[in-house]
Amino acid sequence: MSSKIKIVRHLKDLRKAVGSWRTAGERVALVPTMGALHDGHLALVGVARKKAGRTVVSIFVNPTQFAPTEDLSRYPRDEAGDLTKLQAAGADLVWSPTAEEMYPEGFSTRIVPGSAAEDLEGEFRPHHFGGVATVCCKLFSQVTPDVAVFGEKDYQQLCVVRQMVRDLNLPLTIAALPTQRAKDGLALSSRNAYLTPDERSIAPALHRALLGIADVAKTGGPVNRAIETANHDLLAAGFARIDYIEIRDAETLEPYEPRSGREGRVLAAVWLGRTRLIDNVGVGS
Ligand code: PAF
Repeated sequence: MSSKIKIVRHLKDLRKAVGSWRTAGERVALVPTMGALHDGHLALVGVARKKAGRTVVSIFVNPTQFAPTEDLSRYPRDEAGDLTKLQAAGADLVWSPTAEEMYPEGFSTRIVPGSAAEDLEGEFRPHHFGGVATVCCKLFSQVTPDVAVFGEKDYQQLCVVRQMVRDLNLPLTIAALPTQRAKDGLALSSRNAYLTPDERSIAPALHRALLGIADVAKTGGPVNRAIETANHDLLAAGFARIDYIEIRDAETLEPYEPRSGREGRVLAAVWLGRTRLIDNVGVGS
């Protein structure tokens, strides 16, 4: 019978475990998460295991990336379920610090993220990427991974983290995995648990709308008109509000230049009832 997955809550124990792997010459991969794990997270673990002999999964619902009006207190939590899934997925260790361990009394240093954080999510959630960048920087220095694996579902987050790693010369590489989707196209997300059955049946229209815009962009068609149509169709389908639907340069997130030969990305944040969904799709160069 396989032994139970190791869960560590104190930095000294984490350092000891990772130190012993390092002494044995093993590479270490990190999958940062906030728990409530779904198949998308487990796919990240699969990638991590291919990239390193040891896989650490962090589970920490990071308070500094939520604004006071956001869903920190109702964010889904299921530690027992997460541990069972991670054990089956072959992760080696779960790093699950308490908020006091992560942000002890007197903690006051913060990362100011770069240009990739400026608008889109940055406009609607101004605190968010400062909190994400700070906690990721801390996770990287705590776990000291060779590689950290992120999903493209949070595409702007991926760009912000990549920019931070590059700008601060952090000694790890960032690997990305395409968004994992349900059969009907809805991007897997812990927040899907908030959707009512009716909302869940409407939700896949978001992915379809983004694919429609990407198709128009690929053929050099009128992208702004396609975005207007998508806005209209989503509201007609029952979405409550659209924060943004935009097409951007896939690497810099600056405005997309159709004739530049560079890759584009269609990104959106929309409200379905009380739930905010984000999604994105690529536009080939
Ligand atoms: O994507 C997430 O789950 C979080 O933003 C992350 C990267 C774990 C930081 O808290």
